[in-house]
Amino acid sequence: MTVQNNRKRLAGKVAIVTGSGAGIGRAEALLFAAQGAKVVVNDIAVKDGTPIAHLVVEQIRAAGGEAVANTDNVAEFQGAERLVKTALDAFGGVDILVNNAGITNFLPVHELTERDWDRMMAVHLKGSFGTIKYASPIMCKQRSGVIINTGSESGLGRVFGANYCAAKEGLIGLTRAVARELGRFNVRCNAIRPRAATTILEGINLARFLPVMRALGRYWVGHRAPKMSAMEVYKPEAVAPLVVWLCTDAAANVNGRDFYVAGNEVGLFPELEVERLLYREGGWDLDALDGAARDSLVGDLTNRYLLEGYPELQKFEE
Ligand SMILES: NC(=O)c1ccc[n+]([C@@H]2O[C@H](COP(=O)([O-])OP(=O)(O)OC[C@H]3O[C@@H](n4cnc5c(N)ncnc54)[C@H](O)[C@@H]3O)[C@@H](O)[C@H]2O)c1
Repeated sequence: MTVQNNRKRLAGKVAIVTGSGAGIGRAEALLFAAQGAKVVVNDIAVKDGTPIAHLVVEQIRAAGGEAVANTDNVAEFQGAERLVKTALDAFGGVDILVNNAGITNFLPVHELTERDWDRMMAVHLKGSFGTIKYASPIMCKQRSGVIINTGSESGLGRVFGANYCAAKEGLIGLTRAVARELGRFNVRCNAIRPRAATTILEGINLARFLPVMRALGRYWVGHRAPKMSAMEVYKPEAVAPLVVWLCTDAAANVNGRDFYVAGNEVGLFPELEVERLLYREGGWDLDALDGAARDSLVGDLTNRYLLEGYPELQKFEE
């Protein structure tokens, strides 16, 4: 039986959540506030003339919580700096930083433009680094802080949106680096790879890509991605508890790790290690690789990404 703990676990803490005017970030901001944190709700988007960050702030205040809005673009260092300053001015500090703001696309490699590439890197990678750059000196000085970066299973390899996949997997590297560098100051940094039905797919012409995704079955993202039709079972509210829990003292020893969270599931990804290691006195040449290495290193790995769904991919290209 689960015993509910009614104590507010983050009373007095200050949390910044980027991109929290909607979707996963909004659910996280609401739960941080419900757990007693003072929240800076950041989002660049405006709906019907109102910045959506203001709507979330109103909702938090109506429930008796504390929050302020910030509408800066985290993709620019100046925006990230102003966001951190908003927390300092309103609440006098920063204890928690959740890098959640994001965009995506579903374009084939050859259609991605330089602008698409730069924008994706700016929002996800530069955007997450910028906030860390400005929040971490405060956290290090106070010898406590928690950072969560929002990666994606797409980083495991997704068909369409290679720029998104690359930016998201870059965030896992950023997470490990920040965790190792700042851990000694009691500043922790972890990553999540969530799934949720949100507005992130709005405006994307999925009809164009669905036949290929269907043909690829579970291989269109990593190894165990859902079919698009199953996405609506994943609620943004299901992502927030793990994120908030990682920011409490219950997770004080968790640093540099990479979690999965969706619906009723939470999980932990492994730390990457060399899977098979062969040693050869004097080094390797092509003939030696033909022999031992080919049998033991590559084994029977097949290029299933090419083989599976290939006829449908051909049809798509026509
Ligand atoms: N929904 C999923 O299944 C899923 C899966 C894996 C990863 N993610 C990641 O989770 C995060 C949240 O996504 P979501 O599904 O809730 O999407 P969402 O579109 O509902 O919310 C993202 C929010 O970020 C804001 N935003 C975008 N660029 C910004 C910027 N430069 N500065 C400030 N705010 C900005 C948007 O206005 C939006 O409100 C994203 O990083 C996304 O890549 C989502």
